[in-house]
Amino acid sequence: MPNTLILLFHPDFASSNANRALCEAAAGLPGITVVDMQALYPDGAIDVDAEVARLLAADRIVLQFPVQWYSTPPLLKAWQDAVLTRMFYLAYQDEGRLLAGKPVLIAATAGNVPEAYTPAGQNRFSLRDLLRPLEATAHRCSLDWQDPFLIYEARKADTEALRLAGEHYARRIGRLPCPIPERVQ
Ligand SMILES: Cc1cc2nc3c(=O)[nH]c(=O)nc-3n(C[C@H](O)[C@H](O)[C@H](O)COP(=O)(O)O)c2cc1C
Repeated sequence: MPNTLILLFHPDFASSNANRALCEAAAGLPGITVVDMQALYPDGAIDVDAEVARLLAADRIVLQFPVQWYSTPPLLKAWQDAVLTRMFYLAYQDEGRLLAGKPVLIAATAGNVPEAYTPAGQNRFSLRDLLRPLEATAHRCSLDWQDPFLIYEARKADTEALRLAGEHYARRIGRLPCPIPERVQ
């Protein structure tokens, strides 16, 4: 069974409805580890050794977060700067290379409606387009980019909508491809 690692980056998880529902639904799946990164690193001082080891042990990687100002929460950027920079620029042979081919799924919740993320809408660009820097990062790191899992109107979702979102999320994670270890030489 593949190990699936969900790294949750929520600056205020205590007030979360949507990300909490997604995490709770996913946590019940076999082979899942959910890590609340903000709880682990409240001051932003990331344990890079531990996070590199976590990524290397995972078969499939999920980065989950609420969209904030069309971008990721700051701790996710700090994680990229610390962990990915080491793996891909400083220790490529021993570390970065070993991530090649692992599927990566972005699971993002947004407060606004889908129509806001259209050319005529308030936010002009689609959420998929706004997530392109993460797609570029995945490509640079030879990760297997998956179409993002997106939730809109996340603050307005009632109990039933959150339950359904959790079900969809669990199904989506269950359908993630299994990496091919032979690809890593
Ligand atoms: C500082 C901040 C910035 C936000 N920026 C956006 C944004 O750019 N687009 C959007 O759709 N929602 C935005 N939101 C709304 C959050 O994405 C939304 O509240 C969150 O996804 C709900 O998930 P949760 O219940 O897990 O907190 C923002 C919220 C905060 C607090």
